[in-house]
Amino acid sequence: MLALAVKPGQLGIFPVERPEPALTEDDEVKLQVLRVGICGTDREEVAGGRAKAPEGLADLVLGHELLGRVVEVGRTVSRVKPGDLAVFTVRRGCGQDLPCLMGRSDMCRTGRFRERGIWGLDGFQAEYVVDREAYIVRVPPELGEAGVLVEPLSVVEKAIDEAIHIQFARLPDAQATPYWLYGRRCLVVGLGPVGLLGAMALRLRNAEVWGLDIVGRETARPAWLEAIGGHYIDGRGLSPERAAAGLGRFDLVLEAAGVAQLSFNLAELIAPGGVLVLTGLPGEERPLKIPAADLVRRLVLANLLLVGSVNAARDHYQLAVDDLVAATRRWGMARVGSLITHRYPVDRAIEALQAHQPGEIKAVVEWGSLGPG
Ligand code: BGC
Repeated sequence: MLALAVKPGQLGIFPVERPEPALTEDDEVKLQVLRVGICGTDREEVAGGRAKAPEGLADLVLGHELLGRVVEVGRTVSRVKPGDLAVFTVRRGCGQDLPCLMGRSDMCRTGRFRERGIWGLDGFQAEYVVDREAYIVRVPPELGEAGVLVEPLSVVEKAIDEAIHIQFARLPDAQATPYWLYGRRCLVVGLGPVGLLGAMALRLRNAEVWGLDIVGRETARPAWLEAIGGHYIDGRGLSPERAAAGLGRFDLVLEAAGVAQLSFNLAELIAPGGVLVLTGLPGEERPLKIPAADLVRRLVLANLLLVGSVNAARDHYQLAVDDLVAATRRWGMARVGSLITHRYPVDRAIEALQAHQPGEIKAVVEWGSLGPG
């Protein structure tokens, strides 16, 4: 079958032939791939950045944001049936530490995990994929193509969930409210798909949401944020001090920009007792100049919490599915679906991976039709 691969460390993406995967265990599921989303991680891999081929192979099939249709299930599978829409999670545990043995490979401590399409395991940019039932999450048919947003949303679901859990444990007043986020001032930094989906999850919990980016207010991403009740901040020419003076401080800052310098500057914007959760992976290696003493003083004197968060557990994927359904009820399917702005046939995937198109939010590769299977 056809697949799209990269050679780790080298520039480019190319078609490869891989054997069509078949079920070999009772608990396996085979999916026909319908859509695969493209994100910064994919683009970095195509540019020769962080990626690892499966053992014994020189190339790696790309793709970790999946939407597929179940075509075959093993004897003991009960979570999905043929015809269902579904996604597989990305990370596979090392099998050696407690988090991985407990199904929480997103918290792996040995670092010997693998990730489909990123680190040591072929990804989903292929006609068919097979994996175990433990890694599958069913997508209700009403979500249709928007099911491809489950993976990027799962990453922010985890980030927000962690921030709230830690806040609950340490803030004396947190337990006094049924839901800590209700009416809280939240700032999302970087309005790519992950940032916008994070803003969406926060709005669903009735937080007051501001989103910061460096694009014109009239462009697609700020417009989407405002359509779900968020407020846009144009960060061009805005220093952290000026931002703090003009906008006030935020109880939760969700970083989804992947710019290291910015992550440190954001400490200025966190309210006392507040939390900054980092999800972006900086691609650059340039040395940074940060006012370290100021930063440490602020962290200590204002009881700030700084937390990094990567990947997601299966439960966060389920939360992402539930939130996408809730979002379609609140803002309409058309609004949620409009996050997918660009669709590419497989033979033009390279265009999608090389550069952002104007007006792009989420670009996807079309592997199959979403019509009845
Ligand atoms: C993916 C995560 C993955 C992370 C690090 C992100 O783009 O969405 O699933 O854990 O990259 O490889």
